[in-house]
Amino acid sequence: MIATVGFDDDAVVLLDQSRLPGQVQYQRCHTPEQVAQAIREMKVRGAPLIGVVAAFGLALAMLRYQSTESGLDMDQYFNSQRELLASTRPTAVNLFWALERMQRLYRDESHLGARHVALRLLQEARSMYQEDIAVNRAIGENGEALLAPGSRIMTICNAGSLATCGYGTALGVIRSAHARHKIEMVWACETRPVLQGARLTVWELTQDNIPVTLITDNMAGYTMKLGKVDAIIVGADRIAANGDTANKIGTFSLAVLAQYHSIPFYVAAPLSTVDVSLPDGHVITIEERDQDEVRRCADKYITVPEARVFNPAFDLTPHDLISAIITESGVIKAPFESGLRRLKEGR
Ligand code: MRU
Repeated sequence: MIATVGFDDDAVVLLDQSRLPGQVQYQRCHTPEQVAQAIREMKVRGAPLIGVVAAFGLALAMLRYQSTESGLDMDQYFNSQRELLASTRPTAVNLFWALERMQRLYRDESHLGARHVALRLLQEARSMYQEDIAVNRAIGENGEALLAPGSRIMTICNAGSLATCGYGTALGVIRSAHARHKIEMVWACETRPVLQGARLTVWELTQDNIPVTLITDNMAGYTMKLGKVDAIIVGADRIAANGDTANKIGTFSLAVLAQYHSIPFYVAAPLSTVDVSLPDGHVITIEERDQDEVRRCADKYITVPEARVFNPAFDLTPHDLISAIITESGVIKAPFESGLRRLKEGR
């Protein structure tokens, strides 16, 4: 299993996903600013992973506290570093979930001194990393039970090992089903503009010898129409209490097409992605990214450089297009709200 993030001596070490599949290269971040920049530039991406990376970034910040000359007291410094990391990407709730968890620990233990709390924060980030892998394996086990032998699954973006600390959410379900010889084919949508499907999902599945076929995003409907898709499984960046789901741009279109073709549409996500403070998805902030992501492909302009562009990174799939939400604690079917709240509260 490829490591997506680690901590080594005095640096957060990240697999630079912007270079995949051409190069497997790790970047050492020696400052929280470098960590924040790596998240912003999507060198690391995927909701669960950016949460854990930000947690490591905050631990790094506190380990550096005495050596910085910020002129801030410890609480002010902690808050400024937390805000720096929180400002990187707005949609995935896992980022805020992870930073809040770190903040709770800080509140409980900061009276024991900077060095003590820094080491405890590092320990907490390492626990999050291990927990994420265990959670993904449980999602995989719960989800694979929904799939029949010979399944042909469509997915979008990359909700795999690369989007997490290992194993993956949507791809975790596919991995578990593959281990039980249930997967005939994975249809990977290329996922313009950043091509996480083409660059990451195809690479990751190929490494594990899981059969995968790449399609451009606009081929999804025709592939379904041909009867070549048995289920669609996607990840999530934020799930509201009623089940409305924000995920990579293009997810909503797949859900509409799935309903038209009577294909089950599953969302696989950890409970840390469920935000029960939001009654529905309409208030979720949808990140808009640099217009050049759309104007360019692999660093080459594919349009006039001054073309006007709309570049939302995510969209919102209404809950009534979702067949089930697969979590580490169980599979929830509609109506989602009572089930999501029950699992979130550990009942
Ligand atoms: O912009 P990205 O690559 O961070 O978007 C990632 C996704 O949309 C994933 O589907 C989601 O974060 C779930 S990853 C397990």
